[in-house]
Amino acid sequence: MEKRKIILDCDPGHDDAIAMMMAAKHPAIDLLGITVVAGNQILEKNIINALNVCQALGIETPVYSGMKKPLMREQYIAADVHGESGLDGPVFGPLHLKAQPEHAVRFIIDTLLESDGDITLVPVGPLTNIAVAMRMEPAIVPKIREIVLMGGAYGYGNSTPSAEFNIYADPEAARVVFTSGAPIVMMGLDLTNQTICTPDIIERMRSVGNKAGQLFADIMNFTLKTQFEVNGLEAGPIHDATCIGYLIDPGCMDVRDMYVVVDTNEGPCYGRTVCDDLGVIKHRVKANAKVGMGIDTARFFDLVEECIRMYD
Ligand code: BDR
Ligand code: CA
Repeated sequence: MEKRKIILDCDPGHDDAIAMMMAAKHPAIDLLGITVVAGNQILEKNIINALNVCQALGIETPVYSGMKKPLMREQYIAADVHGESGLDGPVFGPLHLKAQPEHAVRFIIDTLLESDGDITLVPVGPLTNIAVAMRMEPAIVPKIREIVLMGGAYGYGNSTPSAEFNIYADPEAARVVFTSGAPIVMMGLDLTNQTICTPDIIERMRSVGNKAGQLFADIMNFTLKTQFEVNGLEAGPIHDATCIGYLIDPGCMDVRDMYVVVDTNEGPCYGRTVCDDLGVIKHRVKANAKVGMGIDTARFFDLVEECIRMYD
């Protein structure tokens, strides 16, 4: 099996943690590095969370600390969904792991430049690290095999009626990425909201009976409550894990080629990913993204369980 080389750029974050869990163990994925960005919480908290998840699961992938603030807008976090720590719920032991001394943006640039063009970026937080890397060293863009990101929505947002959190938290960075010319797969809310972890799913994963199953349950039991309170969802979706699911088993997702533009005008649509599904402007622009519209949820949760079972 070809191992897909990836860099996971995240802001853990409950669903980010599940993406880490899946990416670190599945034989179809070669996880080169975990880069962290400010998003769900401030950078310092997100790094602690990333390291705690790695330590708890025995993940040895290096963790890099990235951008502390969005490019232009004031910082916007999601403590209402992810709690004060950014990963409320699970209780971790004393933390011994440390982040790498190198900056995440430097790691992304150097790793891409040294590659044969076979590395996929998987951003599942605000796109600040990726945008800064592209601006700092534009030569990385043709080196990117693909960007498989969680963010945006074809339909409604979750931070505003128009905007999804990862894009709303740094719309200007998202615009840099969507106009870069790199091939993009966009897992937006239309698809990711179909992956809600209801109590039966949580119990299914917990009953695998290993540390990963228990951590999955501790994590998702927290968002079960907050996603209902904040977004009116039946339970917490594992948005970010869909990117890993797509890389392992793309056949379980329905994606459509579209031209996507990020609205950076400071009005009610700030941060909206405007998706030209009908191709009404196709005479002027060509599709820059594959937009996720549907998912075979049963097949996806089988894959999540398969990943959990790979842990001791
Ligand atoms: C996205 O926002 C964050 O809160 C989640 O981790 C996910 O990446 C969903 O809108
Ligand atoms: Ca995230």
